[in-house]
Amino acid sequence: MKAVVYRGPREVAIENRPDPTIQAPTDAIIRITTTNICGSDLHMYEGRTSVEQGKILGHENMGVVQEVGAAVSRIRVGDRVCAPFNIACGTCRNCVHGWTSFCLRVNPTEGVDGAAYGYANMGPYDGGQAEYLRVPYADFNLLHLPPGDEHEQDFAMLSDIFPTGWHGTELAGQRPGDTVAVFGAGPVGLMAAHSALIKGAARVFVVDKEPDRLAMAQRIGALPVNFAEGDPVQQIMDATNGRGADCGVEAVGYQAHDPSGQEHPELVLDNLVSVVRSTGGIGVVGVYVPQDPKGPDPQEREGRVGWQYGTFFTKAQHMGTGQCPVMRYNRQLRDLIIDGRANPSFLVSHELPLDQAVEAYGHFDRRDQGWTKVLLHPGQGA
Ligand SMILES: NC(=O)c1ccc[n+]([C@@H]2O[C@H](COP(=O)([O-])OP(=O)(O)OC[C@H]3O[C@@H](n4cnc5c(N)ncnc54)[C@H](O)[C@@H]3O)[C@@H](O)[C@H]2O)c1
Ligand SMILES: [Zn+2]
Ligand SMILES: [Zn+2]
Repeated sequence: MKAVVYRGPREVAIENRPDPTIQAPTDAIIRITTTNICGSDLHMYEGRTSVEQGKILGHENMGVVQEVGAAVSRIRVGDRVCAPFNIACGTCRNCVHGWTSFCLRVNPTEGVDGAAYGYANMGPYDGGQAEYLRVPYADFNLLHLPPGDEHEQDFAMLSDIFPTGWHGTELAGQRPGDTVAVFGAGPVGLMAAHSALIKGAARVFVVDKEPDRLAMAQRIGALPVNFAEGDPVQQIMDATNGRGADCGVEAVGYQAHDPSGQEHPELVLDNLVSVVRSTGGIGVVGVYVPQDPKGPDPQEREGRVGWQYGTFFTKAQHMGTGQCPVMRYNRQLRDLIIDGRANPSFLVSHELPLDQAVEAYGHFDRRDQGWTKVLLHPGQGA
């Protein structure tokens, strides 16, 4: 099969790889119909992770079941399914408590709980930017979708970013009527804004500096804040008579930067502590890492980020962090899509055959104007 493979910093390639096979009776093989490029893939693409050369990338996958192992009974050949980016066993202590993003069984990497397809430190699993994907514990992990190809673009958002954006608002403790500040208008931030509005937010501010992304935020009913045009905290304070936001979502991560592009890993955390009212919540779904050897900040290289913890404590705020347990939300979000209450595909900018992944990574990495979300279709020729 053809697959997108990591070759080194800013280098991916389309290579021929053996088709995956059933390795455990609980496995399934799916034929990928849609697989997305994610902002998380860019941490690897930019050489800011320890991902090994030759890894097949891709953790946002959906398709049709091609083959199932002998112990798979719920999922059947021919089912249309979406695979959460998390791989989980379903029976360990964390899985049983709903934290499938921290499964205790699936990742042999020392000190890391939780696994994912095609990702640095997230276990030995191939990604789905390929024609086929092996799915462990298929009965537990796979989400059924209605047959056919309706809502393909929307359902493709269920493997990661729609649940992750929703999770950001959950971690923030958002309630109906809240004013919400979302930092980052990448796919995750836009999904957090979409989620916040579905959940009845009174107002949602979305902070970024990319005009096309801010325009998209505005189109879905959020209020764009351009941090290149002035301090985003001040802009939100001015717009709320000095009250600030009730809660906030961090959808940027450790490569947060100032308008000149200089990285400041503490910048967005500090902005959120300032702009969220006392006792308000902050949901951090943007990724921070324990080691970042290529990072520009010597402290941050060791995972130490010096943010306004003192003010955070004094304001009695609370914070939730970490990878999203996709299965906690994906069934309900699927049904919001089917019933027309959610349309996360608004951010899809490109649908391309798998063969064009190399160019697509370059454009998405440069945040080129108009490249908000790229969907790859392995079945299609170039
Ligand atoms: N927790 C999870 O489960 C999970 C899942 C998916 C993605 N993520 C992470 O979420 C983050 C966002 O993902 P994405 O796909 O939207 O990525 P992205 O890189 O496309 O978007 C990030 C956006 O943040 C903006 N930004 C940079 N500095 C900023 C600042 N100071 N203030 C406001 N905005 C700023 C950038 O311009 C960019 O548009 C990444 O760190 C990604 O790894 C986490
Ligand atoms: Zn992703
Ligand atoms: Zn588990």
